Amino acid sequence: MTTTPEAPPTGSLMTTLPGRFYTDPEIFRQEQERVFESLWFCAVRCADLDKPGAFRTVQIGRESVLITRSRSGELRAFLNICRHRGARLCTRESGEVRRALQCPYHAWTYDLDGKLVAAPNLSKMPDVDRSAYGLVKVALREWLGYAWVCLADEPPSFEESVIGAAVERLGDAASIESYGTERLALGKRVTYDVRANWKLIVENFMECYHCATIHPELTDVLPEFTDGFAAQYYVGHGASFGEEVSGFTVDGSAGFGRLPEVAEEQDRRYYAITIKPAVFVNLVPDHVILHRMFPLAADRTVVECDWLYAPEVVASGVDLAKSVELFHRVNEQDFEACERTQPAMASRAYRAGGVLVPTEHHIGLFHAWLTERLA
Ligand code: FES
Ligand SMILES: [Fe+2]
Repeated sequence: MTTTPEAPPTGSLMTTLPGRFYTDPEIFRQEQERVFESLWFCAVRCADLDKPGAFRTVQIGRESVLITRSRSGELRAFLNICRHRGARLCTRESGEVRRALQCPYHAWTYDLDGKLVAAPNLSKMPDVDRSAYGLVKVALREWLGYAWVCLADEPPSFEESVIGAAVERLGDAASIESYGTERLALGKRVTYDVRANWKLIVENFMECYHCATIHPELTDVLPEFTDGFAAQYYVGHGASFGEEVSGFTVDGSAGFGRLPEVAEEQDRRYYAITIKPAVFVNLVPDHVILHRMFPLAADRTVVECDWLYAPEVVASGVDLAKSVELFHRVNEQDFEACERTQPAMASRAYRAGGVLVPTEHHIGLFHAWLTERLA
């Protein structure tokens, strides 16, 4: 026989979402439509597309989106679908074309601005208006050195929904701009294939109640995290490095000096920002760590994590291992916890959900945001 709580918790405890929100394919489909296909989604690092014709394809909600650099040097985003009979245009995740994108099915060919420029026998069909059969454009904005795309017909304000998330967390936009993220170079990228619902990863990132249990290296560097209050619990708060700690590294040894515009009061501190739905930004004095999530199924999320440093640090060939290892371990510890939680979401024990303790109550705002979007 099973027992369920008779009344919703009050006071110290708040309810979470019910378990089916993490397992139900229909809820995931609604999230694809109303979250990932409706909001700005951080798709690719601009510098990954370093020359005209370089492309990357990403899965956003139910759509494959193709991002490429045009001959004039601008980034462009299109639905990755041929306008002839709908074949997927680029089947690889990344690559480079010389001048044009050619469909592998019947060879319709588009220039890097998406215009239909050639097709077999097209000259024998003079009535066909080529301009009407270009690739379908997707809105694109660049920020922090990343291309953010939005599939909505009328994208929400980028300033409010994306930059606003950083302002809400840090108090102002200058506090994130001072890291000059768009000028940094990629030191390391690790891709994690996580067998968990994307919301478990967001919820885990927002709280630090688990830090003392699963993050020994992180709490050595940021001792205040042992109290369970995440940096995201407060506005404008960065967690302080421990007194003996020299840098944000796996053993607390020195990092690579402060980025040039990082303010005095930001030095020796760690800031974390969640940009809903699928981006985490971590700021420390000498580097930025940026996570992009690609939710692929109710129980599967690919996370691409970039470690970004001053260009001269990366160019010098200095060993980044101790610097990268700290958050790589944090990621592995976090994702293991999420994967341990995922199967339990389908249990009858979690049918009505779980509870949030006071240091986790701000996760309730994320749940409210989500249920409002799905309503
Ligand atoms: S489907 Fe692309 S050319 Fe026919
Ligand atoms: Fe964590």
